[in-house]
Formats: sequence, C-alpha cells, structure tokens
Amino acid sequence: MMSSDFASRGDRVLSPVLGHYTRLNIVSGKGSYLYTSDGAAYLDFSAGIAVASTGHCHPKVVEAIQAQCAQLIHACAGVVYYGTNVTLAERLGHILGNNLNSVFFTQSGTEAIEACIKLAKYVTKKPGILAFEGGFHGRSLGALSLTTSKLKYRDGYAPLLEHTYFFPYPHTDTSEELARYFDTLPDTIGAVIIEPVLGEGGYVPAPTPFLKHLRELCDARGLLLIFDEIQTGFGRTGSWFDFQNHNVVPDIIALAKGIASGMPLGACISRPDLMAKWSTGAHGGTYSGNPVSCAAGVATIDVIAEVLPTISEKSKQAETQLRQALSDHPLVCDIRVKGLMIGIELRDAALTKQIMAVCLEKHVIVVSCGIHDNVIRIMPPLTISPEELNHGISCLTEVINAHR
Ligand SMILES: Cc1ncc(COP(=O)(O)O)c(C=O)c1O
Repeated sequence: MMSSDFASRGDRVLSPVLGHYTRLNIVSGKGSYLYTSDGAAYLDFSAGIAVASTGHCHPKVVEAIQAQCAQLIHACAGVVYYGTNVTLAERLGHILGNNLNSVFFTQSGTEAIEACIKLAKYVTKKPGILAFEGGFHGRSLGALSLTTSKLKYRDGYAPLLEHTYFFPYPHTDTSEELARYFDTLPDTIGAVIIEPVLGEGGYVPAPTPFLKHLRELCDARGLLLIFDEIQTGFGRTGSWFDFQNHNVVPDIIALAKGIASGMPLGACISRPDLMAKWSTGAHGGTYSGNPVSCAAGVATIDVIAEVLPTISEKSKQAETQLRQALSDHPLVCDIRVKGLMIGIELRDAALTKQIMAVCLEKHVIVVSCGIHDNVIRIMPPLTISPEELNHGISCLTEVINAHR
C-alpha cells in the first residue's frame, strides 16, 4: 500500500518552487476542520487561503458538484452554451448590481486579473496601469507586473509589462498625495487596479475617503477603475463585496477564491457597454466557466447568502477577543479586522513563524502575510461557528501571550 506520508513522497516528485506552510498529510475536510491520515483534526484558520468560505466540503456544494459531474463535466463554453455557466453569470450580476453583469469566467484569480488587464488595455487603447505598492494580483507575467507584495515573486522574471506605476498603498487617507501624483501620470495610463483590502501585502483595509477620491480622479481622467476582490469578495468582509462597504463602484471587478468553495473558478466582470468593446475572440479559454466549477459557484452563493448576516457578529467577537488579550502586548504592533479578514501585525517574521509553528502544535492552522512576513492572517471559513472561532482565537492569543 502507498504510504500516506504525502509530504515525504511529495518532496521527491513535486517541484520545490511551491512552498508549504505545513507538512500536514490531509485526507479530508469537513466544516472548519481538516483531518490528517492518522485521524487528527486541525482547525483551519486559513480556509485554503480564503477559498473554503463555505467550509470544507459543505453538503450543498458537494451535492451540486456530484449532480453536475453526473450530467456534464466539460463541453467548452466556447463551443456550446450550458446552464450552470449562464445561471452563475446571472446570479453574480444580480448580487453585484450597478450594471456589473457581463462576466468572463477564468480558472483562477491570476487569470481573472490577466483578463482585467487585457480588457482595460483593449478598450482604453492605452498600455499603462497604476497599481499600489505591496499589492498582490497573481503570478502570471501580466498579473506579476502589478504585484509588489514580495520582491522574490518578481526576481528573475524581468522584463515584465512596461508602463506600470505604483503608488503607496493607503494605510491612511492619502487622497491629497494621490491627487498630486495623478497630475504627474503620463497620458499612456488607461486603468488603475487596487485591492480594497491589501491581502498578501498585510491585511490593510483602504480608507473609504481614499477609495472615493480614487474613483473621482479616475472619472476626471477617464481611467478605468479595477477592484481586485479576489480575496475580499464573496462575503469575506461582511458584505458580498467590499466595494459595497465603501459605496465606491469599480468599472471592472476580479473575483476568484471564495467564489466556488475550492473548485477552480475566477471571473472578470464589467458593464455590458465596456465588454461590448472587447471584440469576440480577443480573449478566451478552454475551461472558461467549467460546468462543475459553475455548479459549485451557484451552490456557494446559496450558502454564503445564509451566512452573510452572521459575519459582522463573528467579526466583532474575534476583534473584541483579540483586543482584550493582546492590546498591551509589546510585540503586537497592530490588529486589523475587516469582516473575517483579520491581520495581527507582529514585531518580525521570525516571531510570526514561531507563533504559527506553536499554533500548529495546538492543531490550529494559521498562515502569514505582509511585505515583511510579519502579519498573522486569520481567514477562517465564513461558516465557522462562534465556538470554533473562540477556540481558535483563544489558542492563538495564548500562544502570542507566551511570547513576551
Ligand atoms: C487579491 C488577490 N489577487 C489575485 C490573487 C491570485 O489568485 P490565484 O492564486 O487564484 O491565481 C490572489 C491570491 O492570493 C489574491 O489574494
């Protein structure tokens, strides 16, 4: 029989280019927990990097996937039309509102960003894009050109896309500096891309006045505003999408991660008038809107709709618990909470790594982020129960408090 030490077997056959936070050998997942080959349960505060928002193997999602598999696995949306693809696009358009109802599906977040870049370049006929320092938009050469969260992601890949510009991510409202910066931008700029909460770069929510100002500046200059809601979308920040929290509507939005509970799916979504300018055939993809991924997406919407009203309460619970336990901690620099996207900034990367390792010993999976890798990030399934959340945060704060 093959060994279930997947980590050791993986070391021999998987490219080391893909890093691993843990060496857990996982055979199954249910709700907020992952289970190892020797039967141990781990509370998953990573949700597969903000993907398993409905929890692991939610019965409604599993049922939808199983039923779709028995009916149609692939036919290519470029060859025929099929129901799950159209239904999901309709449902997404409905929850996005604001005329954001023309959908191009992809398999991943990176490809959703790639589609956004191509759409923006194509319709504006301008190559330039403004992004924000510390942003993460993906690893294909186009998306990577806008990614600066870690230098190692870019090292060795030059030349990347030309005509990219970067403004410091707004940790505070830097609208005035932004306005002055806009005056210096060349005419070759056609679009601006921003994560409304900086994700990989450190879990930093952008201030509403800044985003409003950014919208106004884009309007004044005729620039397209792209929101990368790959991590913030689908309930993660307490609303369906974070742009709704700010009442700032982008021209183009990128979605992925939580959209289909772990089936590979992303989307580049815009208004029909913009999409109509993207000539048929100018972009495409064999698996665009795969039937099974889309079925998972439709079921995911149903589950998220049920848990959405609970997010702000769970967010408050986590925030209160964290602030009570850690606010006077000398090595905790900041606690940032937006829905169930929670960052605890620590003194340095070594401490962060140490905390993650001890949490793992206590069977709680936490991962990190931040340009200096010094932020513990908590992004549990949105379906997590208040008791599970309490248990995980208590473990984490105990571990942090043991390091003073
Ligand atoms: C904000 C953001 N954009 C883009 C991506 C890339 O998505 P993917 O890993 O699905 O290609 C990620 C992934 O972490 C992300 O968080």
